[in-house]
Amino acid sequence: MRVDLTGRTAFVTGAGQGIGRAIADALAANGARVVYSDRDATGARKAAAEASPTALGHLAFELDVADRAAIDDTVGRALAQTGGIDILINNAGIGVKAADRKPVDGFSVAAWDEMLAIDLTGVFLVSRAVTPAMRTRKFGRIVNIASVLGLVPMRLQSSYVAAKAGVVNLTRAMALELAADGILVNAIAPGSTATSGWKAWIHNNADSAALDMHARLMSHIPLGRPAEPEEIARGALFLADPGNAYITGHVLAIDGGWTAGFARDF
Ligand SMILES: NC(=O)c1ccc[n+]([C@@H]2O[C@H](COP(=O)([O-])OP(=O)(O)OC[C@H]3O[C@@H](n4cnc5c(N)ncnc54)[C@H](O)[C@@H]3O)[C@@H](O)[C@H]2O)c1
Repeated sequence: MRVDLTGRTAFVTGAGQGIGRAIADALAANGARVVYSDRDATGARKAAAEASPTALGHLAFELDVADRAAIDDTVGRALAQTGGIDILINNAGIGVKAADRKPVDGFSVAAWDEMLAIDLTGVFLVSRAVTPAMRTRKFGRIVNIASVLGLVPMRLQSSYVAAKAGVVNLTRAMALELAADGILVNAIAPGSTATSGWKAWIHNNADSAALDMHARLMSHIPLGRPAEPEEIARGALFLADPGNAYITGHVLAIDGGWTAGFARDF
């Protein structure tokens, strides 16, 4: 898929690896100047250096979206160095560690707080910092990376399913509030996605229980496999394209059919 993002600037959180990097790279490959931000500064710099070149080059910033004090300053520096942000991709996020997967009455409060700070409040704060300049320019495309688990929950991950459901409804509320200023806000709900971390986990895993769980999950997905990060990026490119002028407040599931229904007979 090709779109023309020449002259556009994109700010991507969690762009150092995984889905965020795939989206940032797709935006760069289609002509955008990209601000690669990540709490892993080395990863952000490496990704920005390896991206398809553009006339003005790409930028890399260290940004932890849970660091409230740093967000306004980092976005301010990005705006000063680029002259404006056209596209915001709120991608930075964490999952629930295997050891933290517990029913709600045993769920760690610290794990809950960490998750909400990154996966939900981070989306709110970065959007809050970026949108005033978009309003001034009467143009913006915001894509929030939610999850299928924000649409249909899974057991033992209360912090994640709540944070991602919050992202889904925050997306819709932002779409309502920002439409008058030409800012379109959408979300993507990826299903299981085979990032490099995910692939390493599968290939090196000797834990048969975890591999069984993976096989059961794949059997639930009609297409029978995880997404490639580039398949998520393709959706983000479509929603971020200035050519998309009439889709806002939408949640695009890219999930191999996961949320279409039950992939088995009863
Ligand atoms: N991989 C999947 O199966 C899947 C499925 C559904 C949704 N998602 C969502 O996609 C997004 C990306 O996930 P991924 O699988 O690519 O993860 P990943 O772990 O491969 O990459 C996440 C990136 O975000 C960065 N990051 C983490 N916390 C951060 C923070 N506080 N501030 C800034 N950067 C931070 C990491 O350094 C890393 O570079 C997340 O929001 C995740 O919830 C992933």
